[in-house]
Amino acid sequence: MSLAISCSQLNVVRGKNHILHDLNLEVPRGAIMGLLGPSGSGKTTLMRAIVGLQKIQSGAIEVLGQPAASKPLREVIGYSTQSASVYSDLTCIENIRYFSALYAHNEKSPEEILEEVDLTRNSHQMANSLSGGERARLALATTLVGSPELLVLDEPTVGLDPVLRVQLWKLFYQLAAQGKTLLISSHVMDEADSCNSLVLLRNGRTLAQGTPAELREQTKQKRMDDVFIALIGEE
Ligand SMILES: Nc1ncnc2c1ncn2[C@@H]1O[C@H](COP(=O)(O)OP(=O)(O)O)[C@@H](O)[C@H]1O
Ligand SMILES: [Mg+2]
Repeated sequence: MSLAISCSQLNVVRGKNHILHDLNLEVPRGAIMGLLGPSGSGKTTLMRAIVGLQKIQSGAIEVLGQPAASKPLREVIGYSTQSASVYSDLTCIENIRYFSALYAHNEKSPEEILEEVDLTRNSHQMANSLSGGERARLALATTLVGSPELLVLDEPTVGLDPVLRVQLWKLFYQLAAQGKTLLISSHVMDEADSCNSLVLLRNGRTLAQGTPAELREQTKQKRMDDVFIALIGEE
């Protein structure tokens, strides 16, 4: 099995807080891996470590066969932060052109990228006038700049209504079908079933890892909220 991400015995300290504890994680290439856990469980910290923005205390992280934070990885990881990182006072196409200029190799043109997230008709609209769903798609579009093999998306669906969430998930599936690996965080357990693999995080520790079906089987629970609670009980 070829891995897109592997973390072993990872420890991260931020300020005075020990955030991640001996964390192990394996994400196969091509997976849509959900990183689920309550607010404060360490999802953002783990993602920052994977994309090479977070100092680690000990352990190892390999991304696409290279140590995290190594230079060639910049071109092949698309990362969107929790607060949609787009420039409000630029239009959609200007945002994508700006990000494209930062990359040596662009797989797709800015126009093609906007087409991919269904924002062609909004190309010349200012980002600050977009609806929530459009803004989320623009944030996703910024991660598609360059030639990403791995997308790390921090709570990309937060604040979206169920219909818009479904739209966004369709885009995630399309990207996975192109062979990309997606790591998607959420604090909402009902997104679990959209993923083909899950890691549940609590207090900076891995509570469980597996497919939604495996975790249901393990806990004899149907609803993902109940699965999570049952796993906490097993600790
Ligand atoms: N810069 C920081 N300094 C100290 N503690 C931090 C810092 N950033 C986050 N934390 C703490 O790390 C823990 C995990 O935070 P985070 O990774 O943002 O979790 P999540 O994304 O799951 O909500 C929280 O307890 C938070 O208070
Ligand atoms: Mg977070």
